Amino acid sequence: MNHTLKNKRALITGGSRGIGAAIVKRLASEGADVAFTYSSSPDQANEITQAAQGLGVRALAIQADSADASAVVAAVEQTVDKLGGIDILVNNAGVLAIAPIDDFTLADFDRTLAVNVRAVFVATQAAVKHMKEGGRIINIGSTNAERMPFAGGGVYAMSKSALQGLVQGLSRDLGPRGITINNVQPGPVATDMNPPEGEFAEMLKKQFMALPRYGTVEEIAGMVAYLAGPESGYITGASLTIDGGFSA
Ligand SMILES: NC(=O)c1ccc[n+]([C@@H]2O[C@H](COP(=O)([O-])OP(=O)(O)OC[C@H]3O[C@@H](n4cnc5c(N)ncnc54)[C@H](OP(=O)(O)O)[C@@H]3O)[C@@H](O)[C@H]2O)c1
Repeated sequence: MNHTLKNKRALITGGSRGIGAAIVKRLASEGADVAFTYSSSPDQANEITQAAQGLGVRALAIQADSADASAVVAAVEQTVDKLGGIDILVNNAGVLAIAPIDDFTLADFDRTLAVNVRAVFVATQAAVKHMKEGGRIINIGSTNAERMPFAGGGVYAMSKSALQGLVQGLSRDLGPRGITINNVQPGPVATDMNPPEGEFAEMLKKQFMALPRYGTVEEIAGMVAYLAGPESGYITGASLTIDGGFSA
């Protein structure tokens, strides 16, 4: 692995499991010092911290519920304090609530927006106060911003579509400062949130995928590493799908 991110400092939200954990390890393997948040998995967070440290970088786990705006700001400040700055922010933490419209609760609606949308804005606002030219903001959106082919997922799809408008607008705020902001929009990826086996997974693979398989967390982390790196400096305000043809 090359070390294109050496001397960079990254914060990844939701880095204890799934896609976020793979991003932590990938950025660390490219030489970045990494901080990451988690909400309720201290053991997994500890494991990922040790894995990153094993790659020879500084690593730091921060307990911070993304639904709590003050905790998100504090996580950014702690990253800056402990790592000496912030160059890369990956807004990955997300929740998925699926229910038919008649049963969807306002509590789930509010939590989805708080974690999937408001925290992205809050972390970005806090991070760009410290970011210099060359800074990178990368949000994990979803291919469901492009296509939501089954019932019950409207609120989740809305939360990920909101990120498209957010990066388009914020790219105009941040462009003059030399900071880019983009979304990576995965299709089905094998994690606790979306197990790759079972009736639902088989239905997705058969009916909706051009490539009839789930993506891996490493495939998503690879695209994030590209957007975090020096070769992607002319990409901003974009929502890039990596979805096995789900939205094709
Ligand atoms: N898997 C997919 O098919 C897929 C597809 C498209 C987009 N995505 C998006 O990719 C992102 C990661 O999903 P995933 O599949 O890796 O999910 P996951 O396996 O459920 O892992 C979620 C991660 O986010 C953290 N997290 C959840 N809620 C949090 C909160 N309120 N505050 C702080 N951290 C929180 C979790 O921390 P704890 O361990 O402490 O709970 C965990 O580290 C999400 O934004 C999701 O919407 C996933």
